[in-house]
Formats: sequence, C-alpha cells, structure tokens
Amino acid sequence: MENALLEGVFDIVRGHFRDRMNRELPVRTWRTPAELAEILKVSVDESGMDADELISTIDTYLSECVRTQHPHFFQPLWGGLSEAGLAGEIATVLSNTSIYTWEIAPAATLIELEMVATLGRFAGWEHTDGTFTSGGSNSNMLALLLARDRYFPNAMNEGIDGRKIAVFVSAESHYSLLMSAHVLGIGNQGVIKIETNERGEMKSDVLRNEIAKARSSGRTPICVVATTGTTVRGAFDSIDLLADVCRDEDLWLHVDAALGAPCLFSPKYKHLMAGIERADSLTWDPHKLMGVPLTCSILLTPHAGALGESCSYIKSAHYLFHEPGEEYDLGRKSLQCGRRVDALKLWIEWKSCGTSGWSERVERYVELAIELENLINDHPDLELVCERAFTNVCLRYRGAMSDENEINLFNEKLRQQMVRKGDFMVSLAKVGDRTVLRPVICNPAIDLESLTEFIDEIIRIASSID
Ligand SMILES: Cc1ncc(COP(=O)(O)O)c(C=O)c1O
Repeated sequence: MENALLEGVFDIVRGHFRDRMNRELPVRTWRTPAELAEILKVSVDESGMDADELISTIDTYLSECVRTQHPHFFQPLWGGLSEAGLAGEIATVLSNTSIYTWEIAPAATLIELEMVATLGRFAGWEHTDGTFTSGGSNSNMLALLLARDRYFPNAMNEGIDGRKIAVFVSAESHYSLLMSAHVLGIGNQGVIKIETNERGEMKSDVLRNEIAKARSSGRTPICVVATTGTTVRGAFDSIDLLADVCRDEDLWLHVDAALGAPCLFSPKYKHLMAGIERADSLTWDPHKLMGVPLTCSILLTPHAGALGESCSYIKSAHYLFHEPGEEYDLGRKSLQCGRRVDALKLWIEWKSCGTSGWSERVERYVELAIELENLINDHPDLELVCERAFTNVCLRYRGAMSDENEINLFNEKLRQQMVRKGDFMVSLAKVGDRTVLRPVICNPAIDLESLTEFIDEIIRIASSID
C-alpha cells in the first residue's frame, strides 16, 4: 500500500488521541530506565525496519509517554491537547519551513505578524514588535538582552563586562532569569532577588531600597522584572507599582507573564495585569494556560526597532536576507536562524475557539482552582499553605503532625508514592521552608470529578504511609 507507514501511524494517532482523557488508563506507568530501554528497543541497528515494525515502535513510544492530556495531570503549568492545536501542529510539520524570510515562509510570516500585533493590542499597545521563541525562558532572556542593549548600546560590538549590571526580580521569579543573566554575562550575582509579601508579590519599597544600594555599590541597574503568575504560587506582582519605580529610576520594565498573560482576555480577571501597557517587554506563553501545543512562546515589546537592533545580522547573513522589505523578514529580529512556525498552531486554535474561548478557559480554570481550594479547606487533614491567587494551589497533608520537618518529609514521600503509583501527577515545591504539593489547573481535561478524586488519592496514600 502507498504510504503504509503514514496510514498506520494515523490510525495509532487517532487511537491515542481518542484515549487521551480516558480515566481508566494511568497517567504514567513507572519503569526503571533499564526496563524502558528494553521495552522501547532504544538502540538503533545497522539495518532498517519495515513499515509494520515502525508503526509498532511508534505505538510503544506513545504508550510509554506520560499522558499529559489526562484529567489527573496537574503537574506543570501546561497540559491537554485540543484537536485544533494538533491540526495546527500537523500543518506546521507538513510545511517543514523555517520562518526567517518572507521569500521562504510567506503565509507563516503574515500569521506571525498578525499574532504579535493582536496580542500586543491586548497589552494596550498600538504598535507591537515581537518574535516567537523556543519558550518562556528564552523570551525572558531576549527581554534582558533588549534591556542590556538599551543601557549599553555598544555591548553588541565591543562586548561587555556585565559584572557591574543589576537586574531586579521577585524572590519567587522563575530560574530562567538567572540563566539569562548567566548567558548575557551579567552573572547570577547581578540578579537581585526582592523579598515578597505574604501574597507572594514583590515589595516595591524593598525594590527601591535595593536599587539605591546597587547604585551606591557601583552597579548599573538596567531592568526590573515583574512576574504575573509566579511558578509556584501563581502570584501577580503589581505591574503599576513596579512601573512607577521604573519610571522614577529610568529602568526597563519586563513583565514575565508566561503564565498570567491570558488574563488579558477575561473581563473578570484582566485587572490582574493592570498597568501592562506601561511595560517595555512582555513574555507570553500560549503553550501554558492557553493549551497551545508545546512550544509556543512570544516576546513582545512596544519599542519599534529594538529587536532588530539587538538581533539583526543582515550584513553577515548575505546568503539569507535578499529582499529590502525588512519588516517581512522575521529572521532579522530573532536570536534563531532556523525557526519553527509556532504561530500557526496558535492562529488555528484561535480561529477555532475565538477570543471568547480564551476568556472562557481562563475563567473556568480559576473557578476550578477555587473549587479545589474549598475541598482542601473543608478537609481536616489538609492545609492550604498560602492564599490562592490564580490557578495554582499549594497544599500539604498535615494530619496530626506538628513538627515542620516531619510534615515536609511526609509530603515528599506522599508525592513520590503518588507518581510511582501513576494515577495522578502533581509537582512538589517549596513555599518558604514548607514542602507543598502544587496542583495547577492548566489542562482542559480537569473537571470537578478530577479534583475530588485527587483529594481522595492524597488521603488514600497518606493513610498507607507509616
Ligand atoms: C513564570 C515563568 N516564566 C517563565 C517560565 C519558563 O517557561 P518555559 O518552560 O516555556 O521556558 C516558566 C516555566 O514554568 C514560568 O513559570
């Protein structure tokens, strides 16, 4: 049969897609690396396989993957897979193009430009420049690069001793900011972590003091990073308060809204992003709360030309950029040369659900997070460790224990047993010194039943730990 491999793979894909929310299946089957290597037949051989063997190999691979679309998958800040998202991803793969020039990717270019401009309008910007990146971590790095180049415009040509630079972030910010400082030559010591209040929001008075301290110690502050939707607690820094500081101190304001940006779609929750129009740059990850297939992240900025100045290598890349219309050659404002068309799946999903679909998704997730919070508060053995701000919920099993160390170790054990059993997946994290389970509602398959089953599972496992 013509295309026998593809026909077989499509059948398997249909089956796995149909089963993706099947509660009867485990989220994950626990195996040792050696066991899995054998099941997968992970080594490659001198001779190739025929279509049937390849189909069975792909089936085995998919069966051994964690079911990230399962109603019991609460682990990272993403989950699920919609039909529209998958369709968009299939079209991306099929076109197999790289979005650096208009010449080679015309339709993709228009779609990326449209997505950047539209998301920028939600941030309140009339004109927006932006680029899709390989993830929120890289969007954050690009933002710090723009900030660095604003204050040290010669850095691109002359290089820079970044040890004198200071960047200010929330003590609860994502580690990618440290990584970015490392890559940009600023170093981790140049990242000053600002204490947060009891709700997990950066304290702006402490920020002002730290900026003054950094200046008097000879550092040059360049940037404040607000996080809206912190990784563990889902807390939202006040953009307005931090924008006031940046205005007074002449600093770049980057907003890491990798998780929280979709609030801008919701009349009910957009207040959480109040002040976003005052930011200099914004990280927005549609692969998180919006459920667009991984990876899909965008760095947006209202400063026309800033990305081009930091990323354009038009003279050196004479073999790539041939047309004068720079606005349509998107490789001129990216840190990548070859780049996937991640805008397509976002566009297809948006065409499918409409803007109202995004707003409904945000509101449904928050409602479910409130339900989970209520279930925890109603249970005598469970404790909500901090106030819920968004779709992240931080809890722990407490039972009759009072020793903090004992409670921490108990919760570590509990989670380990949960994941090995394979019916639920959830993250372990720290809030201060307390170890918490951090379920996040970022998966369209999660419903009320998943929440009650999750609580039951915690209690079941806790009662089996001696
Ligand atoms: C607040 C925040 N920013 C950035 C990132 C990094 O995103 P990515 O995993 O897409 O690199 C994360 C990841 O969880 C995050 O929570």
